[in-house]
Amino acid sequence: MRELLLPVLLLCTLCRASVQYPYEESLEFRPLERNNLLASFNFKINSSEFELYEPEDKTFHYSTFSKLLGPILQDTNTRELHLRFSQGWYDPEVYGELPYQGKHSGGTGVELWAVVEGQNEETVFKDWIKLANCLSGLFCASLNFIDTSSTTYPVTVFQPTAPMLAQNVSFRNDLFLLRSALPREPVCTENLTPFLKLLPTKGKAGISSLLTGHKVFNSQWSSMSIDVTTHCSGTKCHYEMEQSINLILDVPMTLERNRMPIPKPTPGSQLKCDPTKPFDAFHCFPLDDISELEFSLADLFGKNIQGGALLASQPTKVCADLNLEYWSSEIQSQTKITPTLEDGKTCFAIEDTNEYNLLFKAKDTKKIKPLKSPPIFASRSLSGYSQDSGGFRIDLKNPTDEDSDIIIFESIPWFVRIYLHTLTLTINSTVTHVVADPQFDQYVKGIIYNPAIDRQKPSHLELLVSIPAHTKIKLSLEFDKAMLLYAEYPPDANHGFEIEPAVISVLDRNSHKVVYEMRTTTALLTLPTPDFSMPYNVIILTSTVMSLAFGSIFNLLTKKTVTEEEAELKLKESRITILRSRIKKCAQRIKSLIRRS
Ligand SMILES: *[C@@H]1O[C@H](CO)[C@@H](O)[C@H](O)[C@H]1NC(C)=O
Ligand SMILES: *[C@@H]1O[C@H](CO)[C@@H](O)[C@H](O)[C@H]1NC(C)=O
Repeated sequence: MRELLLPVLLLCTLCRASVQYPYEESLEFRPLERNNLLASFNFKINSSEFELYEPEDKTFHYSTFSKLLGPILQDTNTRELHLRFSQGWYDPEVYGELPYQGKHSGGTGVELWAVVEGQNEETVFKDWIKLANCLSGLFCASLNFIDTSSTTYPVTVFQPTAPMLAQNVSFRNDLFLLRSALPREPVCTENLTPFLKLLPTKGKAGISSLLTGHKVFNSQWSSMSIDVTTHCSGTKCHYEMEQSINLILDVPMTLERNRMPIPKPTPGSQLKCDPTKPFDAFHCFPLDDISELEFSLADLFGKNIQGGALLASQPTKVCADLNLEYWSSEIQSQTKITPTLEDGKTCFAIEDTNEYNLLFKAKDTKKIKPLKSPPIFASRSLSGYSQDSGGFRIDLKNPTDEDSDIIIFESIPWFVRIYLHTLTLTINSTVTHVVADPQFDQYVKGIIYNPAIDRQKPSHLELLVSIPAHTKIKLSLEFDKAMLLYAEYPPDANHGFEIEPAVISVLDRNSHKVVYEMRTTTALLTLPTPDFSMPYNVIILTSTVMSLAFGSIFNLLTKKTVTEEEAELKLKESRITILRSRIKKCAQRIKSLIRRS
């Protein structure tokens, strides 16, 4: 038996090495400030070629590209698809620039945009709704709530990739760009599982084997993205898909959770207090003094890497971007491999099915490679607290030495009625107004505004703003709150209404291409909300009063009060008593008759 097995095994390793599919995966770690760690998972898949229009055989075959997604894209004429699932808050002051210049990061909740081919807006919109419904089923997300009232047609941002526009000749109809976001949607394990099922390794091998829901969603911030583009030459096309997951993990917190799954407060005797602040038996500012750390991938993800993705065209690559003076990494596996240095990153490739773990050791966790500062800082807040009106305020700061052009994209639900004439701009501390102020045009170079239609269309605003170097700009805008119908309130209406994040894109000044993209946080707006417990209270109270009133009035109307004697007299005179006594008499007579005979 053994003699047989060996050649077969040999043959298998040979055939494995020879069959390669258009699939690549890589993983990168980067320590950040305050003991955070960024983990970037990246997967690239190409489909095999297919005929875009009237294929000869109607069977779908895409090689490693998912057969779940392919037919959906083809059926809805989707030429480009972008889907984002994000949660948590990305703090650029601590984490630095967004990974991949923000290309793969979405705003809180779910975001979807697509380029759909079609003859007119109507057919395209039908395809768009169909696409949203299909994806809703595929990813277990409420994308089916996408309708006209949340869909916008962006003009200057979210543009299709350049190669696709260049190949526009190979598309028969026009291309439309549609976008929608659901900021209320919680992102959870049920979204991760279908995400992993799109990979040829299905989360069982390669770096995707590290991804389990309870670890991924315990992170400080996480963003999952899917980008599919169509590439054509002539009538032959293929899809290129990029999937990525970016996570920020608080390392000491994750280790603590492994040690103690149910958190308990640290006993007072073990607390280390900050000596620069007042402390005694009752007050303590804990000292953030963790500077030596030792952790492994198994600690962070609860698992080892289950071998490489052997069907890939490139071996699975794992890299760590460390400051090697203070940090070191060590590969733990049965296979001995020596890491290589690529652009200052320590990398290794996995080419077999052994388990791999990576051990990190830090002598001083505060000594990390300098983080890149983002080219823009932005935040958005709600101002003014009144029942029926309020305002948006966007604060922007250009920390660079050069002037920069940015686009602010906002899609605001119809029940927030914004007034464009109230748009004011404050530069450092000089205020200019949108109406008849020549200074305003110097900074705001373009405005695209599509006002909302009640229950049908959101307000769509795109502003091209130029910010001089080291300058702070404040934009403010006022709005009125609309009254909703009783059934339009979501459950738990008192929580407030989420307004999707503003998207801020930094443009290259020469090519006008987006070089960095970020999103603000969602805004939580309280609308005038009826007290939903009131009808219930009113119904209960009126029912009680009604039953009490009805009972006593009914009694008063139908009953008569009499004394006991009167009652007995009445009883004697009543017909039933007379009838009963007659029957008795009759019975006695019959009895005596029987006895006599
Ligand atoms: C996908 O195809 C493009 C060319 O169209 C190529 O540059 C890229 O490397 C391919 N990706 C993979 C994962 O094979
Ligand atoms: C705003 O203030 C900063 C310094 O506080 C300065 O460098 C910048 O030039 C000012 N911008 C304008 C437009 O005045």
